[in-house]
Amino acid sequence: MQISTWILARTLFNTFLTGLVLMGALLHATPSLAADAAFDSATGVLTLPVVDVPGTGVVNAGLRLSKDNPIEFTLQSAQIYTTPVTLNDKSARVRDGGVLYIPSLPVGSQLYELNMTLIKPDPITFGNLQVLGVTNVTPPTPDPLQLSITAGESRYSELCASCHGNNGEGALLGPSLVSSGFNTVNTLRVKINTTMPQNNSSACVDNGSSTCATDIANFIFNRLQR
Ligand code: HEC
Repeated sequence: MQISTWILARTLFNTFLTGLVLMGALLHATPSLAADAAFDSATGVLTLPVVDVPGTGVVNAGLRLSKDNPIEFTLQSAQIYTTPVTLNDKSARVRDGGVLYIPSLPVGSQLYELNMTLIKPDPITFGNLQVLGVTNVTPPTPDPLQLSITAGESRYSELCASCHGNNGEGALLGPSLVSSGFNTVNTLRVKINTTMPQNNSSACVDNGSSTCATDIANFIFNRLQR
């Protein structure tokens, strides 16, 4: 970098810091460290919950897309945390010369790693967006047991609660399932598969197209019994 460019960048950077302090509403809450950077394409708002600004502190910054081509973001809000914030590898930071580094910005099913440079002090504007890396995010696979329990819960209220109570506590027509000798997933499953609901035992069976007995057994065992 040429020395004149560096001096300019440095000046802009200092203005940026002053700008932050002036905008400086102080934020008292400790930020949730899980909070990711987020870009809302509908509003063009880029939220950076944690930005480490050397010499200033850790801020929560909101930027808005102010120009499309080339992309520019204008700082809308910045609040300095007054409580200590632990930085992690998702925390954005301002680097030497006013480079805003964003290590992890989810956009759709991709995670971007970005650099932007401070290009205007008033209003504080970042541009020269540089994509450093793109990673595809595989959506978390839902836990099959949780899915089964959730399915079982709704089948239970539909087919069983009338006789056994909403929470398996037992009712006029059916005994308690909470304190029951049927207290493993398999004994429950077999009982349901073969004899329940009483007088209509074919309404809830395991077969090629249904996992009703297993789902309700999973629900009773994991949610009603302890
Ligand atoms: C019409 C009322 C009725 C409905 C509906 C019904 N049950 Fe029952 N259930 C009973 C009665 C009565 C018993 C006790 C007699 C028996 O074990 O067959 C019983 C017994 C059971 C038992 C054994 C409890 C024990 O400790 O002996 C289980 C487990 C059970 N039901 C689960 C279910 C499930 C799950 C459903 C829904 C798919 C269901 N029942 C629907 C009336 C009902």
